[in-house]
Amino acid sequence: MKIELPDLSLVCLVGASGSGKSTFAAKYFRSTEVLSSDAFRGWVADDEADQSATEDAFEALFHLAGVRLKRGRLTVIDATHTRREDRAKAVALARAHHAIPVAIVLAPPADVCLERHAGREDRRFSTRVVRNQHRDVLRSLKHLRREGFRHTWVLKEPETIDAATIARVP
Ligand code: GTP
Ligand code: MG
Repeated sequence: MKIELPDLSLVCLVGASGSGKSTFAAKYFRSTEVLSSDAFRGWVADDEADQSATEDAFEALFHLAGVRLKRGRLTVIDATHTRREDRAKAVALARAHHAIPVAIVLAPPADVCLERHAGREDRRFSTRVVRNQHRDVLRSLKHLRREGFRHTWVLKEPETIDAATIARVP
């Protein structure tokens, strides 16, 4: 799949834990382009897993995303974006800065996410959380355009995710 991204995009990665968002972001984008909710939890609370820091982490993340968009820099938000409210905030931010809201959805089969989850030390939550996230992602697909995402790219097979290419277009 050839993913075309307008130069001034705000890209929301959408996917359950273990879907491969951070891996995808590291492969296809500059490190400075990627704002990850985990990293921001780390910066505000010294603990990437501290869920009590989520609100503050997103406040800081959105601030930096806004500054980047104001300066015309493509920005990627690496967070699950499984909840409609979270996606809506990103769309609103993009619009406020005349950037194009883009969703790249990583939705490999739930079993793939769960298998990866099982192999990780840094994810303390239960497999049920991953299953629910996966279900929410699939349910969200038909709403993304209406929510305001101008472009939506949905990658469902690990092979498709692996073989994707990204082209930036003016
Ligand atoms: P959260 O940050 O928990 O939301 O997960 P994530 O969506 O960012 O997943 P991440 O990229 O951290 O990948 C989870 C695990 O799956 C890691 O151990 C990765 O090495 C592995 N992984 C991710 N993408 C791939 C892939 O395309 N192929 C294989 N074999 N492993 C992958
Ligand atoms: Mg991640």
